[in-house]
Parts: sequence; structure tokens; C-alpha cells
Amino acid sequence: MLSGKNILIGITGGIAAYKICELIRMYKRANANVRVVCTPNALNFVTKLTLQNLSQNEVGIEEFNTDNYKPEHISYADEADIMVIAPATANTIGKIANGICDNLLTSVACAFKKPMIICPAMNCGMWDNTFVQNNISKLSENGVYILEPDEGFLACGYNGKGRLCDLEKIFKQTEEILNKEQKLFGKKIVITAGGTIEQIDTVRYISNYSSGKMGIALADAAYNMGADVILISTVNTQKPYGVISVKSAIDMQQAVENEFDNTDCIIMAAAVADFRATEIADYKMKKTDNTETITIELVKNPDILQSLCKKKKQVLVSSAGNETLSKAPVIVGFCAESENLINNAKDKISKKGCDYLIANDISRKDIGFSSDYNEVSILKKDGTIKHLERASKQEIAYKIFEEIYG
Ligand code: C5P
Repeated sequence: MLSGKNILIGITGGIAAYKICELIRMYKRANANVRVVCTPNALNFVTKLTLQNLSQNEVGIEEFNTDNYKPEHISYADEADIMVIAPATANTIGKIANGICDNLLTSVACAFKKPMIICPAMNCGMWDNTFVQNNISKLSENGVYILEPDEGFLACGYNGKGRLCDLEKIFKQTEEILNKEQKLFGKKIVITAGGTIEQIDTVRYISNYSSGKMGIALADAAYNMGADVILISTVNTQKPYGVISVKSAIDMQQAVENEFDNTDCIIMAAAVADFRATEIADYKMKKTDNTETITIELVKNPDILQSLCKKKKQVLVSSAGNETLSKAPVIVGFCAESENLINNAKDKISKKGCDYLIANDISRKDIGFSSDYNEVSILKKDGTIKHLERASKQEIAYKIFEEIYG
């Protein structure tokens, strides 16, 4: 499965660097092309000659190499299908998460636009450090795959979480990602994310607690699986694919409808507000000494999902119901319920008319809204239901695409 793939390994200065010699051999045995880039500190643990012989390629260390006319950080980044940083020290993780590029490895990582796996390995105290954890979350939220360290006896003498995860796990994850990449090639996927922002006056708005994480995870997964992705989001985010920033439900509807034609799949993961202020004051509303209550009149927002499904029906009717001829998109909705999850979801899929409905239980604190995890049930229009156990939003995103595209 890795035959002919270009794998870029980034090695940083931790004792687990010696283990990466074996990882290189595993990739080579699978007929992958391997290039290695090291931080200068990595060479305290493993020699350049060893890495060079095993990878059968020159090893990149110096950022300002006068022998080569091409800027190396760009050529390393362009040539690889995936970048695997193992072991990743707290130092290098911190730099990558904050856009710092002070050596070849961090510059390559900064320019890298394809899937990246980071395998941290460090002392357990360092792994527990709040700033390190914040950097890990930041990377994970931005689509980087993190293979967390294992627990056990550490080279520094401590017992705890910090050991580089199994090489087999890194190898399998590489295979999985590169395999997934092909599945959505040639497909255009539009995904909405975040809670809509409904203005009341120039400084106030109505919104909800949606973090947009599930929609962004879906967009990242679709992109990593080779799709042409458009993310329509109320949450600001910079991505290597198209991001359209919107605020209100009306803006979102306009943006989604503009993308309807020639799209293979639309996923409405956004938490669209059901109501908006009837009138938006074009000034900051003031209180007076005798205002105890105020009334803001709300008007119903359009149901974007339902109107997309209606549009799809019309397209199908005009092509005599032939789904393949019609090129109508697969339409996927989300529903967030705090009670009677499955029954409410069943009602919703038939009322809205979408092809799939992803139901999540928002009464649970360990999944959903701002969590990095989710557990969902996928309802299909033929009445079947598939349950996905609790997993990271990234993993759930891949499983959703596997369910839709097999
Ligand atoms: O009806 P409910 O809000 O529970 O439905 C949720 C699904 O419908 C989500 O996919 C959401 O993005 C979509 N939705 C919509 N327009 C609305 C409300 C919800 O597209 N006004």
C-alpha cells in the first residue's frame, strides 16, 4: 500500500530517535521512498550516515545549504505525500504549533500542506505541561494527526506517559492516511461549520455554543482523502483548501446555494440558528433608567438543509429520478438532541429529506459541542442506522466518509 509513496520523516532531538532507524526500514521494505530531515539536536542520538544509508537518500539538516539552488524547505515539502515527525520533542511541537521556523525541519513543517503525523516522545512531566498540551490541541484542531505517547518506563528513569508509541502504530497510521487519500479524489465536497451569528445591533448578537470542530474535522478529512473542499464557516480558520467565512444563516444559505451545482456532497454540520432578529439596529441599543425589560422580536430563519433537499428533489424530478444522471449532491444533515435521540433523528431525516443524518447526543459532557470527541449515529434514508462509538472528531469524520462512500 505504500509502494511508490514519498514519505518524509522528521527526526528531532530525543532519545527515541534511535528507534526511527527501524521505522525507515519498515517503510523501505514496503517500497516507499523515504527522505529524512533532522534537527541538529537529533544527530546527538543517531548519525547522519546511518539515516542516509537506511533511507538511501541524502539527509537534510542545514537550512542554508549553498550546494543547492532550490530552497530546500520547499522542495522537501513539495515532494512528500506525508510528513511523519518522530520522535517529536516538546520544543519542536511548540515551534510548529506557533509557526516558528528556525531550522530546516520546522521550516519544512511550516510549508507542508499534506497530511502530517506527529509522534511526541518526552519526559512525562513535559508531556503533562499545560503549554505542551495546548500546542498539541492546537495542532490536532488544525488537522495534524497526533499519535500520543505510550505509558511505561522512560529513558529518563521515570515511569509515566511519554514513550514514543509503537512503530507498528506509526506505520499503520501512515498506510491508513495514504490509502484514504484516494477515496474522494475528483469529488467536490461542501461542508458548513460553526454556530451562525445573528446580529441584534452593531455590538450584540445571538449565537450558540457550537465550536465548529466537527465541521472542520470533516473538511480536513475530505481534503486528506483527496477531495476538492469548500468549508463554509462561522469560525475563522486558515486551511489549505477553500474557506468561505460567513456569519448569519442568511449568509450561509447564500454561500451554500452558490456551491450547489457541480457539488458531489453537501454536509450541513453547522448549528444554524432557527431565529434571527426581525430588525437589526444600526446603532448600539441603549438602556435608560426606567427600562427593566426589552423585547427583541425574532423571525424564523430559512431551513437551509430542508431547502437544499427540496432543490435536490427538483433536480431529480427533472432528470426522471436518475441520481447518476442528475449529478444532484448527496445531502447530509446533523442533529443535536438532548433527549430521545434516535426517535427525534428519525423524524428529522424524513421531515428534512436528506440522504444521511448524523445524530449526536448533546446532553453528554464528554462528547459533542466544544469537545474534541464525538459519538454519533448515522441514519440513512433507507431507514438503517449505524452507530459510531466515541472517538476523536477526526476519526468520526473519516468514518462518516467511509459510510457515505464505502
Ligand atoms: O432542525 P434542526 O436544527 O435540528 O436540524 C439540524 C440540521 O439542519 C443541521 O444539519 C443544520 O445544519 C441544519 N439546519 C439548517 N437550517 C436551519 C436549521 C438547521 O440547515 N435553519
